[in-house]
Amino acid sequence: MTDKINELLRRVEEFKPKAAAEIEEFRIRILGKKGELTALMEEFKTVAPELKRELGQQLNRLKNEATSRINALREELQNAASDASATSGDLTRPGTAEELGSRHPISLVKNRIVEVFERLGYTVADGPEIEDDWHVFSALNFPPEHPARDMQDTFFVEKDPDILLRTHTSSIQVRTMERQKPPIRVICPGRVFRNEAISYRAHCIFHQIEGLYIDEGVSFADMKQSLLYFAKEIFGEQTAIRMRPSYFPFTEPSAEVDVSCNLCGGKGCAVCKGTGWLEIMGCGMVDPNVLKANNIDPEKYSGFAFGMGIERIAMLLYGVKDLRLYFENDVRFLHQFDKAL
Ligand code: DAH
Repeated sequence: MTDKINELLRRVEEFKPKAAAEIEEFRIRILGKKGELTALMEEFKTVAPELKRELGQQLNRLKNEATSRINALREELQNAASDASATSGDLTRPGTAEELGSRHPISLVKNRIVEVFERLGYTVADGPEIEDDWHVFSALNFPPEHPARDMQDTFFVEKDPDILLRTHTSSIQVRTMERQKPPIRVICPGRVFRNEAISYRAHCIFHQIEGLYIDEGVSFADMKQSLLYFAKEIFGEQTAIRMRPSYFPFTEPSAEVDVSCNLCGGKGCAVCKGTGWLEIMGCGMVDPNVLKANNIDPEKYSGFAFGMGIERIAMLLYGVKDLRLYFENDVRFLHQFDKAL
């Protein structure tokens, strides 16, 4: 019997549970009503009286050892569990959702326009937002007294020599012609600044995309076809364009481009103000004076340029009626574009 007691004692000492359920199982197996210790107690009743004292002590020791070991193991496991929850929380709890950001509608539209022109072989060009008079006006054939240079329109950083915030992305045309010889085919997105009162249709900061194509033998027909392709890619296959004569100092001849109104199919509605057409950009053949100012021979090369407001295109695509929404960063507005494009 002593052997059995010692064997059980050894098992109690070596017992290393991994979970609370194992401890309970062990307890029942040893101390339970049908457990091994209980069986030994039964056996004890039948031993010779002279052995009772010695064996009784051994059995008591075994019972105490087993009980205290089981209690100690239980406590150990509980402490480990509460340590874990203190550091890493309840690992089975559902996570708190992190809100995903989305691209700003202006970025979405800009990227789409750039992609269309990249397919036509254009590359993206960039330039500074703080510019000098030469790149924004003089090299683009603005006469010295042109009203666009006026304080009411342009934000000046310094006077004499004039340092200013660019009022249009056409300045990137000049930067590109300085860097590169023809053939030139660039698309130039960027932020521009004008001293305008902020309203639902005007802002002092907005975005434009400029295009410039210069090579030998570039014609007005090339421009018209490129812009028609662009309009169909952005506004849909059924879209038509029309060109109205216009004036810009840096292009001659110049035109204003309209696209057919998709909302009414050209019949006339509130958005197109009954005309069936929506104005989207200015364009024209690069003025020989601009080529000359940038050391490009106008006898050899010709080209076209165009410029459009990204906010305007985005308003037409998404039906946004108030331009200020683009700058307020209200997530209720911005989240509507999560799945756009
Ligand atoms: N820079 C003009 C503006 O801000 C837009 C523009 C018109 C750009 C005609 C061009 C162009 O390149 O050819 O209103």
